[in-house]
Amino acid sequence: MGTPDRPLSRRRLLGGGALAVGGGVVGAGLTHAGAATDTPPATPPAQPLGTQTVPFFGAHQAGIDTPAQAHAVFLAFDLLDGVDRAALGRMMRLLTDDAARLTQGRPALADTEPELAVVPARLTVTFGFGPKVFAAAGVETQRPRSLEPLPAFPIDKLQPRWTGGDLLIQICADDPLTVTHTQRMLIKDTRAFGRLRWTQRGFRRGRGMQDDGVTQRNVMGQLDGTRNPPLGSPVFDGAVWVDSGPRWLHGGTTVVVRRIRAELETWDAADPTAKEFAVGRRLSDGAPLTGVAEHDEPDLTKTNELGFTVISESAHIARAHVRSDRQRIFRRPYNYDDAPAPDGTSDAGLIFAAYQRDIGSQFLPIQRNLAENDLLNDWITPIGSAVFAVPPGCREGEWVGQSLLG
Ligand code: HEM
Repeated sequence: MGTPDRPLSRRRLLGGGALAVGGGVVGAGLTHAGAATDTPPATPPAQPLGTQTVPFFGAHQAGIDTPAQAHAVFLAFDLLDGVDRAALGRMMRLLTDDAARLTQGRPALADTEPELAVVPARLTVTFGFGPKVFAAAGVETQRPRSLEPLPAFPIDKLQPRWTGGDLLIQICADDPLTVTHTQRMLIKDTRAFGRLRWTQRGFRRGRGMQDDGVTQRNVMGQLDGTRNPPLGSPVFDGAVWVDSGPRWLHGGTTVVVRRIRAELETWDAADPTAKEFAVGRRLSDGAPLTGVAEHDEPDLTKTNELGFTVISESAHIARAHVRSDRQRIFRRPYNYDDAPAPDGTSDAGLIFAAYQRDIGSQFLPIQRNLAENDLLNDWITPIGSAVFAVPPGCREGEWVGQSLLG
């Protein structure tokens, strides 16, 4: 003890970012280990994933081009009668301030459990405004033209309890307790302005369970996300960030949140060939039925010996395919799995969140194609639907939505 290099090796062992909470216990163990070897390990253990943060301030709100965290909650609120532009501004100031703190691992302003704030776990908070906000704020001319409830589709069985909403708060983190704490703090900020309309909790694989960046499987067992525009690529930027229309939304985006139930009991009864035929991709590795590897380009024109296309014209990927990169959407779905019915029937599916510059020219044509004819429709049922404009990000000292409401 006391040699000049000892504190350094201990710091290395701690990964330079030990949390104050529990530090005593961690420190004690490490001192012991240090005494045994007296040299730092060749590869210092990585910092706990819970210490990782995502910047809150920036040109775009975080939580969209952020690699998807393991846990999410989507909260939609109805504004109270009389909440106008000034009140909305007050609410967004409060929300922005607390979200900025919590995402950096600091307690909210009036945090009742500040101890819960010290594990940010890549927390992001993303805000969106529903179609009715614009009239309430007296800025109807600023509403993006296609920001309105989606038309009814024949496949829909929408339930009011999962549909609509004026304010969206999307909270994502790699830790469920962080999500819960953030949800509680932010709901308190909204109390004078709105009432919760719906809450949708979702999950993906636990962080660290697989390599970051691999395509994940959804509750139906499919690799889901293969053909998404790559994060940070020009294709992503051109498809997702608004660059025309109302000036206040430039650098922002729009999101469609559909709750889509997976009919897992009948899906279980389908054989693997039928499941692969319905999507147009293999279950084992996600490769298109015309290729050998996941990221092979699907050949939608290739025919078999009978003259039929190998990937059916009614397969999900054939129906969802678009020709131009500007028409693409970015899917950031989460699984949900609520309490099964007493007979064991699952209540599971996807919280299907899709981001695009413009709902009318990107999301809608794809959704129309799918609603009209998609083999997957036998096993999926949209039961909720909501649309929101997602303001651009802001700088420190500013608040989200200021470009519209300030
Ligand atoms: C529970 C519902 C759904 C499930 C289980 C599902 C599943 C899948 C799977 C397995 C793929 C292939 C892998 C990939 O590229 O990600 C895929 C592709 C895709 N899906 Fe879905 N999907 C669902 C709903 C939707 C909806 C509602 C839309 C849009 C309105 C959509 C749009 C797309 C698009 C654009 C692609 C990529 C197509 C391409 O290859 O270019 N999906 N989906």
